Amino acid sequence: MCGILGYVGLDNAVDVVHKGLEKLEYRGYDSVGIAYQQNMKVVIQKEKGRVIDLAPLLKNKNSNIAIGHTRWATHGEPNKLNAHPHCSNTNRFIIVHNGIIENYQKLKVEYLSGYDFISQTDTEIIVNLVELFSLTMSINEAIRKTMSLLEGSYACLILDKKNLNCIYFFKDKSPLLLGIGKNGITLSSDITGLVGYAEQYVALEDKTFGIAYANRFYFYDIIGLKLEPNIKSVQVSSSEIDKKTFTHYMLKEIHEQPLMIRSILQKYFIGDEVNIPLKLINKMRKCDKINIVACGTSMYAGMMAKYYFEKLCSIPTEVFCASELIYSTPLISKRPFFIFYSQSGETADVLAVMKKMKKQKFPMLCITNNTESSMGRLTDFCLDIYAGKEIAVASTKAYTAMIVVSSILARAVSGVRTNLKSNLKGVSLAMEKVLNNKEICLGIAKDIVNEKDVFYIGRGMDYWVCLEGALKLKEISYIHTEAFPSGELKHGPIALIHKDTPVIAIITQEGTNRITRSNLTETISRGAKGFVISSKGLSLPEDTFIIPNVAHYLSPLVSAIVIQLIAFYTALLKNNDIDKPKNLAKCVTVE
Ligand code: M6R
Repeated sequence: MCGILGYVGLDNAVDVVHKGLEKLEYRGYDSVGIAYQQNMKVVIQKEKGRVIDLAPLLKNKNSNIAIGHTRWATHGEPNKLNAHPHCSNTNRFIIVHNGIIENYQKLKVEYLSGYDFISQTDTEIIVNLVELFSLTMSINEAIRKTMSLLEGSYACLILDKKNLNCIYFFKDKSPLLLGIGKNGITLSSDITGLVGYAEQYVALEDKTFGIAYANRFYFYDIIGLKLEPNIKSVQVSSSEIDKKTFTHYMLKEIHEQPLMIRSILQKYFIGDEVNIPLKLINKMRKCDKINIVACGTSMYAGMMAKYYFEKLCSIPTEVFCASELIYSTPLISKRPFFIFYSQSGETADVLAVMKKMKKQKFPMLCITNNTESSMGRLTDFCLDIYAGKEIAVASTKAYTAMIVVSSILARAVSGVRTNLKSNLKGVSLAMEKVLNNKEICLGIAKDIVNEKDVFYIGRGMDYWVCLEGALKLKEISYIHTEAFPSGELKHGPIALIHKDTPVIAIITQEGTNRITRSNLTETISRGAKGFVISSKGLSLPEDTFIIPNVAHYLSPLVSAIVIQLIAFYTALLKNNDIDKPKNLAKCVTVE
């Protein structure tokens, strides 16, 4: 994880890097640091804490060049010592690094025996290797030699005190973009870090290194051959990353969902015809099994997609947790098709599986919010979920967008005409109605905020939303929350129910309505505090939140808003840092 940012040019580099790091903070936020040039010397400022904590140290500082880092600790606890930038032993080179060097201990012993190490990070190895090799080689060669030894993932920026007009950069597996602006060059872990300072950008390929000056840049491959950059235009605007009138990004992103559905419809429908590339549809029609690979919320969206592919297209589908699949490859069918779901398109576990399957030449599709990401670039086919930038660590709109796009894709592959488009418009209206009654979720939050455990129960699709509800609640409220298929309670988990344990049942499916209610009653008889989120046609007057009716296979899109709001308000009542919950990061680029 971690975010890195560098700038060289006419604007104040200290400001550019500091503001850019704020945008990258979702990638990690336990410590922060910046290095900049002042009177031909390099000044380094670090803090344990947030990007904002650096502000007093950077007031009125001006520079043509700077590099910075916001950290999610991997090697070494989050403290000032381990915060980046790090220096080489003679202080000639200064580095920021995103990624993990797996063989750093070995390299330390083999090459750097006389060197001192101040921090517990793997990063100091990189910068000292560059220094060591630069004693006998040019800097370019020293970096290439260093890259050839590193195992793991890295995106690095380096300043050389002897030449403070340029930034050296190199990467493998971790993302890095180079932004081209009128006044200078920006380097960033993602595109938001470039907004405002670059109109065009280049996404670096793995094992690339280069040099950026204020008005020019050069790319090379690992053997030193000059590369021609593939320049694209920056499409993200600053308004997309503005919180607007909302107090939190998460709340803003929850509210964006009704409109988002309409814009997805505009992208994927021409009139009533689905607009999905025919080549992709044909490829999917030829497969004998769909394998969905993802993590976290994206995996839960994948569960809904499985339902669509099986019910609408009659294609057997299995959902895999990416981090499990890497190390235990299942039996692969004769004509498999892989779909990778990832909001960020950078999740290391998913990317690792993708690379593995790519080697075997299996056809693949990536469904992502970031088509220019590592996954977006690696895949055969890519579908944009058009959720717009999602900044809160807890994913909300990307979840519903993935489900919507999956339903459209399944409809296209099935070739069967349905009223999906008007049904999805109905979902958008239903979501608005839920948002208009959000105080009910605040009421539920008040009832659960002081509890130690919360349980979500449901069956089928409702259970899949429960999984997402439990993930949302635990990650931002820090309350232990589990989801169970309601029928499983009596096989063990019901032992956990004691007086006032909150049990939230989701009931939106006709076939399982009665039985889930009975299961909830069984917990209430044992002291639980029961809450029911039900669809109008299946509701009882005493239910906690009665959501509008929509087509039954789309109801998770509506109940999702309720579980998101419950999590949001519970975290709000606890005064937690909702957009940046502890121990987490938005983009999980380590396995
Ligand atoms: O970017 P991705 O969709 O690949 O991320 C996957 C998970 O890390 C992500 O969904 C995570 O579970 C969220 N924090 C959930 O809110």
